[in-house]
Amino acid sequence: MSRLKRVIVVLTAVAVAFAVAVGGGFYWLYSDARVSTVGTSFGRELAIPPLAEPTVGRDGTKVFDLTMQAGHKEFGAGQRTPTWGFNGDYLGPTLRAARGDKVQVRIRNSLGEASTVHWHGMHLPAAMDGGPHQAVAPGGTWSPHWTVDQPAASLWYHPHPHGKTEQHVRRGLAGMFLIDDERSARLALPKRYGVDDLPVVVQDVRFDGAQFDHGHKLMSNSGFLGDRTLVNGTPDPYKEVGDELVRLRLLNASTARVYHFGFADDRRFSLVASDGGLLEEAVPMDRVRLSPGERAEIVVRMRPGERAVLRSHPQSLGDFWQTRFNGGDDAFDVLELRAAKTLRPSPGLPGRLGEPELPDAGESVRTRFFRLQRSGINGRPMSVERIDETVTRGTTETWVLRNDDGMPHNFHVHDVQFRVVEVDGRQPPPHLRGAKDTVFVPGNRSVRIAVRFTGPADPDTPYMYHCHLLYHEDEGMMGQFVVVDKGQRAGEVRTPPSHAGH
Ligand code: C2O
Ligand code: CU
Ligand code: CU
Repeated sequence: MSRLKRVIVVLTAVAVAFAVAVGGGFYWLYSDARVSTVGTSFGRELAIPPLAEPTVGRDGTKVFDLTMQAGHKEFGAGQRTPTWGFNGDYLGPTLRAARGDKVQVRIRNSLGEASTVHWHGMHLPAAMDGGPHQAVAPGGTWSPHWTVDQPAASLWYHPHPHGKTEQHVRRGLAGMFLIDDERSARLALPKRYGVDDLPVVVQDVRFDGAQFDHGHKLMSNSGFLGDRTLVNGTPDPYKEVGDELVRLRLLNASTARVYHFGFADDRRFSLVASDGGLLEEAVPMDRVRLSPGERAEIVVRMRPGERAVLRSHPQSLGDFWQTRFNGGDDAFDVLELRAAKTLRPSPGLPGRLGEPELPDAGESVRTRFFRLQRSGINGRPMSVERIDETVTRGTTETWVLRNDDGMPHNFHVHDVQFRVVEVDGRQPPPHLRGAKDTVFVPGNRSVRIAVRFTGPADPDTPYMYHCHLLYHEDEGMMGQFVVVDKGQRAGEVRTPPSHAGH
């Protein structure tokens, strides 16, 4: 062979080897990205978070105590995983109050670092909201108080420290906050907590030995994705039920994963509530998608002696690439319901459920646009010192949310429950017609919402709006708004002292 030929042969061999290596590496990443727990055996009884017992103050205020603490929890046989929790090792108790109640929560931070506690979905004054501006120093306390004034709903609480929300939630700091009202108390819906009305707090995790593995996968751009799920902190959980109708209060408390809930046998269920409370009427469905932070209450009918598996099914999360690397092709067997041989009869679902208090899009006084990109909202990352939007108390606005980079994003607004007016120019599907505080915004699509701000006004203390994929939030996909009285201007926001507390 001539020298030139030999060089060509060698170069070709190198090129082929390189292509094979790259292709093989990609193939490995591609197949490694998909996880499934379908067919798992459900060996542990579902834990039900205890209902917190408030003490009642002289003026009738319900006072709850929550301590943020470090601990250990056994998720697998003999493995002690370092965790965080409220009043315990992992997650927190369920707080419960009725519309009209005065509540106070006495927070104590026994962690070694500053954190906050935010009341997700709650309408309350900005200074009580528990966002990044209400940091609680290590060893410090904070006692927000407010009057519950919104319809019955399944809300939740979790930390919101600037730049560290993903970490704090992932370690186990989260709990539910249930609101009741006169209507929900009368309604013939399953409502015995832990019996036929079950909190279902879903998180995905990955273990590295006994430790949580918090690492992000190489190709994912949405944040932490686990390879198995927990419900209320229980791996592979089953729950024995004794009623024909069972209500599941689903909360996606994962930091980045979008679930596509349904049952393994594709049975239909009734969606009865979204983030902010009961829908006007039940919507029959066989799938419900929940992005991080969203809730849905569903009612499922059980037959005597059967087992029904709540499953998260594969779904599209944008194009082929986004879907595969952000968990869209994954499937999880989440919870098994085991029906008793004989079931207590349940009354049929009421024809009319709630009376959602939704803003009227026709009253909107202005439109704001929010371009969602991982690098920031409207082209800039969050700054704690900058007020991005000033809204007037008592007005309704239209907010147009557009996903501009094709990655999975959602949008959460503090303090309010909004109405979804349009999804990509069309009327929202029935399951998005109820009260929402967090909405999924698919890649390159837009969602139009009507938001009403009822105050109280506080020009100096901002509320947040952000992507609830917590890694995105921490990276800066968040903005701040203040509610002011007519004619008032936004005040000066001070940097939250990182070791504040009082
Ligand atoms: Cu659930 Cu700003 O958070
Ligand atoms: Cu929130
Ligand atoms: Cu995002």
